[in-house]
Amino acid sequence: MERTLVILKPDCVWRGLIGEVIKRFEDEKFNVIALRMLHLSAEEAGKFYAVHQGKEFYERLTEYMFGSPIVSMVLEGEKVILRIRELIGATDPKDAVSGTIRKKYALSGLMNVVHASDSLEAAREEIAFFFDEDAIFHYQRREGS
Ligand code: CMP
Repeated sequence: MERTLVILKPDCVWRGLIGEVIKRFEDEKFNVIALRMLHLSAEEAGKFYAVHQGKEFYERLTEYMFGSPIVSMVLEGEKVILRIRELIGATDPKDAVSGTIRKKYALSGLMNVVHASDSLEAAREEIAFFFDEDAIFHYQRREGS
């Protein structure tokens, strides 16, 4: 089973969209196997997005991501990395396909509701950034009452 790291960004939390977005993931039968609300420090935000250092939006991105509550989580499921990226849609809502989370909710290319890992290696690193292995759980989905 594959795992990915998802962050519900400040604009998701501010606008009361936490439940809405998690429901989209659960409806697709992905299991939330770790969950945490936190503030990133400026240093942590810079470190998490270090791959974007030097890009024109880097400062705006780290400022936006630090000091406001975010929710980080690990999702598990078949091909979860690719499928969650498809479900959230393109970075900029102008480019996102209809029906995707960012098309429906993102305010801009910066304030785009949700982050998700883009590769197996990124998922491994990003999960370790937020969670120790003992904070990650396992369970089977059971349907019905
Ligand atoms: P995310 O999927 O978290 O990955 C990097 C983030 O940088 C991205 O979502 C956006 O929040 C931000 N970002 C990427 N490209 C741009 C851009 N052109 N302008 C502003 N912000 C951007």
